[in-house]
Amino acid sequence: MCDKSGYDDFMLKEIHEQPQTVIDTLKGRVLPDTGKLYISELTPLESSVSDIERILVLACGTSWHSGLLGKIFIEKYAQIPVEVQIASEYPNSDLTLNKDVLCMCVSQSGETTDTKNAMQTAKKLGGKIVAVCNVIGSSMAREADYAIYTYAGPEISIASTKAFMSQAVTFLLFALWLGEKRKTIDNNTVSAMLNELLNLPEKIRRVLKTEKTVKETADFYKNTGHFIYLGRHYNCPIAFEGALKLKETTYIHSEAYPSGELKHGPVAILDENFPVMIFVPAGKANDKIFSNLQEARARGSKVIAVMSEISRNDRPESDHQLYIPDCNEEVSPFLTVVVAQLFAYFTAKGLGKDVDKPRNLVKSVLAE
Ligand code: AGP
Repeated sequence: MCDKSGYDDFMLKEIHEQPQTVIDTLKGRVLPDTGKLYISELTPLESSVSDIERILVLACGTSWHSGLLGKIFIEKYAQIPVEVQIASEYPNSDLTLNKDVLCMCVSQSGETTDTKNAMQTAKKLGGKIVAVCNVIGSSMAREADYAIYTYAGPEISIASTKAFMSQAVTFLLFALWLGEKRKTIDNNTVSAMLNELLNLPEKIRRVLKTEKTVKETADFYKNTGHFIYLGRHYNCPIAFEGALKLKETTYIHSEAYPSGELKHGPVAILDENFPVMIFVPAGKANDKIFSNLQEARARGSKVIAVMSEISRNDRPESDHQLYIPDCNEEVSPFLTVVVAQLFAYFTAKGLGKDVDKPRNLVKSVLAE
């Protein structure tokens, strides 16, 4: 249904649709009776799964960010090396491929010219093409060897939100499917992670319930000229996605870095004019990320820490805290991204921007 259903903007509606987006992306892929994983579109690929020597992801913008997260999942669960390339850079490649190189061309619209050109180049170079698209029957889905649909439903807002969510869920499902077929993970791991995914909609609803606090925080920072986003491991792609959401909806200069990269140069720009959003959910990388948080504060930056509920009673080392429900580190990006989306949305609204149609942008980029 392409109306705002009572929301002020399509972007807010689509952010709130994400619990249902996860349900729709999982539908038919986690069999209700057995709880088994089943991706029908990939059945013809099953016989050659053990031959895959590497995966190349080709995408733009938000879809590229979902590829960065997909890389972490696929390398963890299927033990296949993944390279994530910006689609517009790929046609300059001279590296010959073969049928054992799986080229995943990720595009919400399935029409982005840069990604379509990259797909054609990968085809010419001999790769096996899997399109990951949201729009049913889009040209990339039709022209690929295999097509996996993300089932996020129509996404109207130019700033992509639920499509990213559905791409990220699809990448995790694909990683688990590959791992199961290549026997790099056991059934317990597959069912444990499928359970995490089945519990995700409720956790996302709990993040959505924090939107009043996110709005108050956005109002505090909305007049800043700059923003730096930091994240590590599973939340590094979220730093990039959060920075893009803010940039494209508010026109505020925002950049993202792997948080460990700060000391290799970017820390030089930090001062009171450069607030930082850092994603520090509970997990293995936590203590290192907290030292990055302290590095930023020591230079005068105000810091918003996106943290796990479990840390709510800890002495805050940041100026503002936004919380996600406690969860396995692997699924934290599905929750931290919702905070980043809401923060960008409310900052843009606070600045009176046209949230659904930002200046200079279109929903499907057909220009080269
Ligand atoms: C995301 O919010 C932007 N609208 C943009 O970066 C978009 O993700 C990019 O143009 C790719 O679009 P696609 O997924 O339809 O190929």
